[in-house]
Amino acid sequence: MNAAAPQPKANMGEPVARYDARLKVTGEARYPSDMPVNNPAFAYLVTSGIAKGRITRLDLKDAQSVPGVLDILTHENTSELKSGRFGQGSSTSIDRLGPEIAHDGQIIAVVLADSYEAAREAAYKVRPTYAPAQPSASFGSEGVLVEDATKVSQQKELPNKGNAAAALATAEVAIEAEYATPTQHHNALELFTTTCVWNGDNLTVYEPSQFVYGLKNGVAQRLGIAPDKVRVVSHFVGGAFGSKGGMTPRTALIALAAKRLNRPVKLVPTRDQGFTIATYRAETRHHIRLGARRDGKFVAYSHEGWEVSSRPDPYVVAGVKESAHLYAFGDIETKVNIVHADRNTPGYMRSPPVVPYIFALESAIDELAVKLDIDPVELRRINDTTIDPIKGKPWSSRSLMTCYDEAAATFGWKQRSAQPQSMREGEWLIGWGCASAVYPTHVGAAAARVRLRSDGHVRVQTAAHEIGNGVYTILAQLAAERLGVPLSAVTVEVGDTLVPPAPVAGGSKTSASACSAVLKACDSIRDKLFRTASMANDGALAGRSVGELKLAGGSVVASNGGAEKIADVFKRAGFAAIEEYAEYVPAGMKPEAIAQLYSGQSVQTGGAESDYIMYALGAEFVEVRVHALTREIRVPRMVGAFAGGRIMNTRTARSQYMGGMIWGVSSALHEATEIDRKRARYVNDNLADYLVPVNADIEQLEVILVSEQDDKVNPAGVKGIGELANVGTAAAVANAVYHATGIRIRELPIRLEKLLV
Ligand code: MOS
Repeated sequence: MNAAAPQPKANMGEPVARYDARLKVTGEARYPSDMPVNNPAFAYLVTSGIAKGRITRLDLKDAQSVPGVLDILTHENTSELKSGRFGQGSSTSIDRLGPEIAHDGQIIAVVLADSYEAAREAAYKVRPTYAPAQPSASFGSEGVLVEDATKVSQQKELPNKGNAAAALATAEVAIEAEYATPTQHHNALELFTTTCVWNGDNLTVYEPSQFVYGLKNGVAQRLGIAPDKVRVVSHFVGGAFGSKGGMTPRTALIALAAKRLNRPVKLVPTRDQGFTIATYRAETRHHIRLGARRDGKFVAYSHEGWEVSSRPDPYVVAGVKESAHLYAFGDIETKVNIVHADRNTPGYMRSPPVVPYIFALESAIDELAVKLDIDPVELRRINDTTIDPIKGKPWSSRSLMTCYDEAAATFGWKQRSAQPQSMREGEWLIGWGCASAVYPTHVGAAAARVRLRSDGHVRVQTAAHEIGNGVYTILAQLAAERLGVPLSAVTVEVGDTLVPPAPVAGGSKTSASACSAVLKACDSIRDKLFRTASMANDGALAGRSVGELKLAGGSVVASNGGAEKIADVFKRAGFAAIEEYAEYVPAGMKPEAIAQLYSGQSVQTGGAESDYIMYALGAEFVEVRVHALTREIRVPRMVGAFAGGRIMNTRTARSQYMGGMIWGVSSALHEATEIDRKRARYVNDNLADYLVPVNADIEQLEVILVSEQDDKVNPAGVKGIGELANVGTAAAVANAVYHATGIRIRELPIRLEKLLV
């Protein structure tokens, strides 16, 4: 055990090393674009240079004359492709190559050549002529259309209770403030690659994906072929967090190109193209009013949000649906608006609803704490609740204040002097701040196949997705434990539509869903094995009852000490293997959820939608240092304590939380996609200008795994942790910056120029 492999507490699994560790560090892990294909042609995308208007002419002459060029796809020769369905697997409805242009960087042509270099050279020689129109870039731009989210999106009902306006008018203490978060792009190391290979009328797609069954069905629909003809393979994903969950326009284009050339086609788009051919986190604005009694008890919470989307698609995250359950708020009123601009359609990015909305809420709570002169931890304690403030439903479990207490003790919060600018070391102003992290516990239907061979080898198959979450590891761990074999005897196959479906690797539900299905399949194997062993005419277990049998160390063991090796049970029965297929449908979900999953729809339940309110929670504390003269901002120290139900593996869990907090610092201090407001065009679309934290930006970071048991969420008892830890960090940093300087920054990111006042 060491810091990276924390000692498991109650209800936590061992910190076994990652199943894929050796493959990853030796470069042997094959990401989709590494999959070898025979004699591929290479694709290069041509993207629009305007954000709005029309292509009037496409001159391809020079491009076609580049040696090695094979074909060029344009809007004139791709009309056979059907449009994808936004909200049902497609991340955007803008999927034509033209002639209409809906956003800057829209794909307008795909050049195919014998080499990458020839394709790239020719792509730069495609000469479009446009009839441009004036685009609307963002909030405040002329021509944006603002719509009530409940009227145009799937968000039909937002939290509202009592009369918040009246309660605010008479509140003893109240604050009112506006907050803003910027556009952010995922910038995973792995680019948005696609490789397509046809074998007769069967298509194989190698593409990094968070939902291989979704992609399989989506591509089939766009190509107008049967889903059975499509296989999607994605064994490893080099970073995703939402950006590789939905189908983007490129996949069907590359499939079509490969069909026309009768040759495999490989696409590796550039980093800057990734900013416009995939999704991103939308820019948001917030107006919050929070009222309390003198003693700190909340009486009302009012939150209106605005989110940028594309012109046609009503993408919206409506995070008030989560934030409104967090405390005993009293009366609640919420509203969300979609602001349609001439941008590519935004999409999910790690903790999509909560990141912007909780930044606003947890900043507002800190402002209220200052006004009330109550310690911010105590203000949260005063308003802690185990009952849903809206519908009165109980929480399945809630360890928020335990998280605060454990993190505060480790951080040394007691030593804080409340007055802003009161802590200083030389030229550095020291600020301490905290905030809550929260993420809904989701679970989806999943299927799995598990095989136990007579030699004790186990194979686990479920089309979950290894996006860095550690799913290979925890599935191997679970099967090894359940079937009593060593970890080294387990093989795991994920990320392939040839194995049974698991839900989209989104909403932090992979562990809960896939583990529940694998658990079920393992239990069927145990049952079959136990019945075989006990029904034998001879042998150590003959006549024992199934209920007293266990699996341990490669043997079936009875409570009286009798034991028989798995191999001998198989031999006696004449089996070579037991293979079981299991479907897991969460409580409250319709049985057709599995059929839907096979056809590419991943439905989930949980959060505030079940009989219980189900959320994972955490508390984050940060120390910032702001230089008194230059206003340079550093974060030398962070402590986060998190409660996420059963922890499958303390090593992978700590790593998820740590990554989350680092991304939170990124959100707080570094990340923003700058937009040229006149041209509605992203400016810093590269890793030199799009800032993310590096090692020098993160010094001490401590993760505390808080022990929590919750039998109500799902059979695995898992709450899901992938999207929890980056939720509270930005507010904790902003609150610490206020404490250091006395300056409240309500617009992310917090950069030093904002402190030069
Ligand atoms: Mo997550 S943004 O739901 O992949």
